[in-house]
Amino acid sequence: MRRHVARSSAESRRLRFFKSTSRLDPNFADRLAEVDHRRRCAFVGHLCGDDAIRAVGRYEATAPGEAEIAFLIEDEFQGHGLGRELFELLAENAARNGIKRFTAMVLPENRKMIGMFERMGRPMSVRTDGCTLLVELDLAA
Ligand SMILES: CC(C)(COP(=O)(O)OP(=O)(O)OC[C@H]1O[C@@H](n2cnc3c(N)ncnc32)[C@H](O)[C@@H]1OP(=O)(O)O)[C@@H](O)C(=O)NCCC(=O)NCCS
Repeated sequence: MRRHVARSSAESRRLRFFKSTSRLDPNFADRLAEVDHRRRCAFVGHLCGDDAIRAVGRYEATAPGEAEIAFLIEDEFQGHGLGRELFELLAENAARNGIKRFTAMVLPENRKMIGMFERMGRPMSVRTDGCTLLVELDLAA
């Protein structure tokens, strides 16, 4: 996963982690890698015959019935529907585990992420704290 982050562009890392550093803090990386598929879940994308991670979509439960989602697709694989596919897998797994709402923190200039959320066909609301967009997507509707 650390290699996946390092392969991503500084801009994609900035949009995902809000800083463009190519090295994930080891404790943070460990935490991301420890999934229980219920409260912390991740789906990854890789090429056939190559197990290097190229894309990750994840959620982490943050409150009863609610989980925060985040994505990082390596640049050369963006715009081919992977984000959409990962979202659907996460939503399916979340619903099975009692999660009714996804939240996401998105930088205002991240049109791709906002565009993708708008196209997922779920009731959506967007607020801002001044620096970041706080997106909510209703999975139950
Ligand atoms: C944002 C991101 C997850 C989207 O994933 P993706 O695989 O590139 O997106 P998809 O190909 O699945 O596109 C899904 C939808 O996004 C929208 N979209 C894609 N590119 C877009 C663009 N340049 N501008 C606006 N909307 C765009 C489209 O509505 C598309 O729907 P369509 O297929 O019906 O046209 C991915 O680009 C990424 O990892 N970016 C860097 C990290 C990041 O921004 N993470 C978000 C932090 S929460």
